[in-house]
Amino acid sequence: MANRANDNLRASHTGARHRGAASRVGRDPATQPQSEVALDLMGREKTFGARNYDPLPVVLARGEGSWVADVDGHYYLDLMSAYSAVSFGHAHPRIVAALIAQAQQLGVTSRAYYNDELPPLLERLAQLTGLDRALPANGGAEAVETAIKAARKWGYKVKGIPDGRAEIIGCAGNFHGRTITVVGLSSEPQYRDGFGPFLPGLSTVPYGDADALLKAITPRTAAFLVEPIQGEGGIIVPPPHYLARCRQICRDHHVLMICDEIQTGLGRTGRFLASEYDGIEPDGVILGKALGGGLLPVSAFVATNDVMQVFHPGDHGSTFGGNPLASAVAMASLDVLFEEKLIERSAELGAWLLSELQDLRSHVVRDVRGRGLFIGIEVDPRYTTARPVVDRLLARGILSKDTHGTVVRIAPPLNIPRDDLAWAVGEIYAVFRELERDVKRAA
Ligand SMILES: Cc1ncc(COP(=O)(O)O)c(C=O)c1O
Repeated sequence: MANRANDNLRASHTGARHRGAASRVGRDPATQPQSEVALDLMGREKTFGARNYDPLPVVLARGEGSWVADVDGHYYLDLMSAYSAVSFGHAHPRIVAALIAQAQQLGVTSRAYYNDELPPLLERLAQLTGLDRALPANGGAEAVETAIKAARKWGYKVKGIPDGRAEIIGCAGNFHGRTITVVGLSSEPQYRDGFGPFLPGLSTVPYGDADALLKAITPRTAAFLVEPIQGEGGIIVPPPHYLARCRQICRDHHVLMICDEIQTGLGRTGRFLASEYDGIEPDGVILGKALGGGLLPVSAFVATNDVMQVFHPGDHGSTFGGNPLASAVAMASLDVLFEEKLIERSAELGAWLLSELQDLRSHVVRDVRGRGLFIGIEVDPRYTTARPVVDRLLARGILSKDTHGTVVRIAPPLNIPRDDLAWAVGEIYAVFRELERDVKRAA
C-alpha cells in the first residue's frame, strides 16, 4: 500500500513539475485556498496542541526521497530535511526495510539485557569518529545532556575540580536543544524566558573568537561545547582554524572539547563530521538527527575512554536508548551514507549550490554561506525578513525555513537529484527577483 502511494508520488511530482504553471507543485494561496481537510487539521492542532510551534501552513501527508505531498496532493521539494533528520530522503527503501525487518524481530529490550543490534553500532560509531566509546540516546538534547553529565563528572573525578563547582563554556548563538540544562546555556532570551532558575556553572563566549574562550577558562572549567557550524544560529561558519585553536587551548588547559555535530554530522557539510575541516580530534562528539534515518529519534554521545570511564552502572541511562530497532535503523543509515557516497555528494553538490546562490547578486541578499548541503541565505533586514522568502518558496513548491529572522536555511536531503536542485535554484532566483521588484515599487 505504502509503496504504491510512493510510486505515485514520484511519478506525479516529476510530471507535475514539467507541466509548469498548471501543475500541482506548490500551492499559491492567492489562487488556491486551503482545502477544508487542511483547515480542519490545522485547526485541531491549534485547538488541542500546545502552541509551542508556528508551522508553515502546509499539512504534509506523504514523502518519498526529496519530495513530499500535502493532504490535497500538492507537491513540495524538501530543502529542509526536518533540520537534517531526513538527510537520506523520505522513506529511503533500505532504511525502511531495515526498520520493518527489525520491528518484526525485536523492537525494544531496555538496557537491562544485551541485544544483538547495539554492539555493532557502538563499535562503528567509535571507529567512524576515531573515539573509543559511544553512549546511545534518543533525541538530540538528551545526548547533549549526557555529554554535559559526562563532562561534569570527568571534571570532578579526573581533573579534580572541587565538588559542585564545575563549569561548562558554550558559545553565544548556540543551539543544543530545549531541556532545562541546555536552555540554561542558551543566549537566546526567548528560549530562556520563564524557565529559570537555570543550572549554575554554565556560560557563553562569542562564537568564532578563540581568544574569548582562552580568557573565559578557569581552573574549574570542565568542558567547552561547540557547534562546528551554528545551524539554528543562522548557518554561521566560524573563521578558518577556529576549531583548531580552540582544540589547542582546551588541551593546554585540561578542558574537554565537545563538538555538537547533531546537525552538522553524517555528511551534512561535506565531511563525515564538520570538525574534520579543522583536522581536529575532539574529546567528545554528539550525533543525532540523520542517525535515525528520517524514521526514528536516535542520538549518541561518543567520547574517549578518559571521558566515558566516569560512567558506572546506574550512573546514567535511558529506557529506549540503544534499543534494537533504533540500532538497526542507525546501522542502515550509516550504510546508506557510505555506500551511496553521500558525503562526497554533499561536498560536490553543496559547492555547486553555494556558487549558484552566491551568483544571485541581489541587493536584498546580504550573504550566502555554508558548507556542503548546509547553506544559509541571509537577507538584508532593510528590505525584507526571511519569512516572506520562505512563504514565496512554499507557494512555488519548495520547503525551506527561516531562522533568526533574516536567514533562509537550505539543507536538502544529501541524495537530492541534481536536476531537482537546479529547478529549485531557478525558483529561488525567481523569488528574489520578485522581492526586488516589490522593494523597488514600495520605494
Ligand atoms: C546542533 C544541535 N544540537 C542539538 C539539537 C537538539 O536536538 P533535538 O531537537 O533532537 O533534541 C539540535 C536541533 O536542532 C541541533 O541543531
